[in-house]
Amino acid sequence: MRIVLVGPPGAGKGTQAAYLAKNLAIPHISTGDLFRANISQGTPLGREAKSYMDAGNLVPDSVTIAMAEDRMEQPDAANGFLLDGFPRNLGQAKALDEYLKDKNLKLDAVLDLEVPEDEVVKRIAGRRICRNDSSHVFHAEYNKPAVEGVCDVCGGELYQRDDDREETVRKRLEVYHTETEPIIDYYKAQDLVVTLLAMGKVDEVTKRAMAALPSRD
Ligand code: AP5
Ligand code: ZN
Repeated sequence: MRIVLVGPPGAGKGTQAAYLAKNLAIPHISTGDLFRANISQGTPLGREAKSYMDAGNLVPDSVTIAMAEDRMEQPDAANGFLLDGFPRNLGQAKALDEYLKDKNLKLDAVLDLEVPEDEVVKRIAGRRICRNDSSHVFHAEYNKPAVEGVCDVCGGELYQRDDDREETVRKRLEVYHTETEPIIDYYKAQDLVVTLLAMGKVDEVTKRAMAALPSRD
């Protein structure tokens, strides 16, 4: 299965991707997590990405597409993947189509997580992520770790993401509406979009997502 997850910042893409990827036995590929890993390792790519991310803007396509393609080339992605946060504008969507076409592959579905804006703001305000791995995601109220401030997965320290400050969140939402939403119509034209209201408990959303995805051949 080759799936794209789309939805506003804070919709729960990363949270759902962790469960869906496990259920479907495919890797979870998050461009946001890849950038954050580069930032914590202090790589040139991380240094370049950080200034865009801290401002709530998209990292330039050239850098992002190369990084995503490089990740999709890894052996664990040979039989499928769940893309989270990529593509994020029409240029990236077209680049992904080209990349897959070259390999005679295609997407199976684009899962669009819909969450009202006031809920997204609450989810982001309480989000805490792990210092060791930004894909370990919790919420101070809705998705608490067993021990406050400690990651359930690896025991790492939990903290608030730099781009989760209020002004940056507003900018990220604006960028989502102007740059990312148009890809939903692009994929609707290919009959790939599955829309899911991503409200309710995390495990309920996962169940609905699994039921909504096309069945595996
Ligand atoms: P990225 O890391 O992709 O951030 P995002 O798209 O803004 O999405 P988020 O990570 O904020 O939210 P999410 O939907 O994953 O929600 P989560 O599961 O954490 O990108 C960050 C930046 O990197 C971008 O701004 C950009 O600069 C750059 N970037 C990344 N990809 C790029 C690309 N392709 N091109 C260019 N630039 C790129 O959940 C949120 C919170 O809600 C958590 O606390 C969670 O515990 C909680 N929660 C989840 N589900 C529920 C539920 N059902 N009920 C209650 N709470 C819930
Ligand atoms: Zn962790």
